[in-house]
Amino acid sequence: MTVTLTINGAAHRLEVDPSTPLLYVLRGELALNGAKYGCGLGQCGACTVQIDGKAAFSCLTPVSALEGRQIRTVEGLGTAEAPGLLQAAFEAEQAAQCGYCIAGMIMRAQALLDRVAEPDEAQIRAHMQTNLCRCGTHMRILRAIRRAVAMRKEGRKEAQKGTRDAPAGTRQAAAEPVREARP
Ligand code: FES
Ligand code: FES
Repeated sequence: MTVTLTINGAAHRLEVDPSTPLLYVLRGELALNGAKYGCGLGQCGACTVQIDGKAAFSCLTPVSALEGRQIRTVEGLGTAEAPGLLQAAFEAEQAAQCGYCIAGMIMRAQALLDRVAEPDEAQIRAHMQTNLCRCGTHMRILRAIRRAVAMRKEGRKEAQKGTRDAPAGTRQAAAEPVREARP
């Protein structure tokens, strides 16, 4: 069967069995190796990606369910040279040991940050509880997410300051770099 998947904004046309889990296609067909195979059972979160903005286990999601939907993987957030907000925060906190769980952790956290501008500790912990780190790095991972929230808040303040300081005609442009959370 031919399936067209939209991943990180790009369309990919694939000849694949419709029951194939998205994770296998990402890693085996498209060399998007951020998402990892951990349990294959929806119990660890190593394979987490975003589907239409929500965190999802790619090991359990057949490609047949994904036509017309927006898939985002950790590769879509940034690069080593230009990391995204969470990637930079995880790096700053050195929030990894073996690193196997980290792409899944970041994608789950991204889904929260897309929805809630400034999640509190309880919201972060509740949202992240489906993802496991067998190296026991959870405390650093939580710290990295808190750091990302703080970095975004700081960026918003700077942008507001820039908007106040900017000449009237340039105010919109000054505000643009700040990414607002979706409702
Ligand atoms: S590999 Fe998908 S939840 Fe563990
Ligand atoms: S850093 Fe090793 S599994 Fe999380």
